[in-house]
Order: sequence, then structure tokens, then C-alpha cells
Amino acid sequence: MTSSISKCLFPVAGLGTRFLPATKEIAKEMLPLVDRPIIEYGVEEALAAGCKEMVMITGRAKKAIEDYFDRSFELEELLKSRNKQTLYDEVISLSEMADFIYLRQHRPLGLGHAVLCGEPVCRNEYFGVILPDDVMVAEPSVLAQLLAVHSERGGSVVALEEVSAEDTSRYGVVAAENAGNGVFAVKDMVEKPGPEKAPSRLAIMGRYILSPAIFPILERQQAGAGGEIQLTDGIRTLISQEPVWGVVYKGRRFDCGTQPGWLHANIRLAMEHPALKEVVLRAVKEYEEE
Ligand code: G1P
Repeated sequence: MTSSISKCLFPVAGLGTRFLPATKEIAKEMLPLVDRPIIEYGVEEALAAGCKEMVMITGRAKKAIEDYFDRSFELEELLKSRNKQTLYDEVISLSEMADFIYLRQHRPLGLGHAVLCGEPVCRNEYFGVILPDDVMVAEPSVLAQLLAVHSERGGSVVALEEVSAEDTSRYGVVAAENAGNGVFAVKDMVEKPGPEKAPSRLAIMGRYILSPAIFPILERQQAGAGGEIQLTDGIRTLISQEPVWGVVYKGRRFDCGTQPGWLHANIRLAMEHPALKEVVLRAVKEYEEE
């Protein structure tokens, strides 16, 4: 048991087919959410939970992510020569906010396989996992809420949210005993069950703190739902070896993995941005007056 984790893993190898053609040449994680790429929200969440090393599991066409969190000398020189100090500081801070480690997932074999690709870096300690498509707005950050439970109780922790019966088929769903204060002892989990097979309506939401004992399990894991090696199936086996907790997190989630969800998140968060709220309101007003 530990009160801190230093590494957070980001599975970012997916091809982003739901966003084509926008994502033909750039990573979907680089699509802007108001003023920053989607991936930066996840990195900031991990930083807020005390992580220092961001382990990106990447694939083809993801070079922009590496470049984004790197220095850019031409841009820095240009900003300096034009006395754009604030922008200059922002650009520098991106490369200095954490250490970034990149590992390749050579084949799209599923989320469990993507996490297994992080084994060379994460095998000796508990580590965080953030699925950046789910952007969380929360204080403290959702990963920090999971870490608090890990610090108190040990074991692995997953973020949970209650979903409607129609939506269980979109998520991993747990069978769990209520341990009080939004914490659940997870007894079983199933990936993407229909409403008739779902053990509850508590669904797993894109945030995990995992024991390194998950790696030998994932190495042996057979393909499950959708023909993919599922992280949910791996954690299910982990439950028979070590405690796994679920936390109904406090905060707001924006599903940026679909185009309507991403557009909604942009409009909603722009409304909360002091300089952009008026822009959204003006556009709506113009539309209504046409
Ligand atoms: C993945 C996980 C699933 C989880 C979901 C959260 O599914 O496999 O258990 O509930 O993320 O977003 P995906 O969205 O990759 O299909």
C-alpha cells in the first residue's frame, strides 16, 4: 500500500475511426477541447494526483502527441522575438510538466493488451491508467479520488458511475458490495453486458489504479468481448488474488470519444471559459434570429 503513485499509463494507440476524416493524419487525442488537446486534460489530471511519469502507449500516426509534449525551438524563438512571454511560458511548460515515456502497441489487440505494453516501465509498482477519451472535470481530480481509496485500503481501484440499463452494453460493469462513502468492494466484472446480463448498473469509467500483478494475468489473457484482450477480464482474474475497489467518483465526465460527445464538451466547457462564453451565446443567438 502506498499513498503515492509516480506513473500513469495512457492507452493512445486507437485509430480514431469515429472521428474520420478529421483523424486520418492526426491522433484523436490531439483534437482540441476548447483551448488544449484532449490528451492534456488527462495529463493534468495525472499530475494533480502526483504522477511524475506519463507512459503513453502509442501506435502509428501518433507522432503529434510526442511533438506536443516536447520542446519546439523554432516556435520558442519566434515567441521570444515577438515578446509573447505568456505564450512562451505556456509552450515551455508543456515539456517540463512531467517525464514522458513512449511505448508502441504494434497491433490493435485491445485495452488489456495496451496496458500489457506498459509492463517494461510499470511492472514494479502500482500505477494509474487514464483513458483520455473520458475527460473528467473534478476537484480533487478523479485519479486523486481513486488514490485516496488505494492509500486507505490498498489494492487496485476503478472509477465507477451509475448508468442507465440501456447503457450497460457500452462499459465494463461490476458486481460489488457497498463499503460506504461511495466505495464498493468489487466481486466480479463483465465487459459490455446487455441489460439482461449486467450484474448492476455500476459501470467502469476510464480511470484505474492497478497492481503490477495485472501483468502476468494479461500475458495469459485470451480475447474476450469484441475479439479483443479486455482489461476488464484481466481485472476480473485479479479479484481472486487481491482486493479491487470501486469508487463512485465525484465530478463531471465528458465523453470525447464520439463526435457528438466531443462537440458537446467543447460547447459546455467554452461556456465556462470567461473569454469564450460570449462567443457561444452570440452564435446561438444569431442562429435563432436567422
Ligand atoms: C473501455 C473499457 C470499459 C470501460 C470503458 C470506459 O471500453 O473496456 O470496461 O467501461 O473503457 O470508457 P471502450 O470505451 O474502450 O470500448
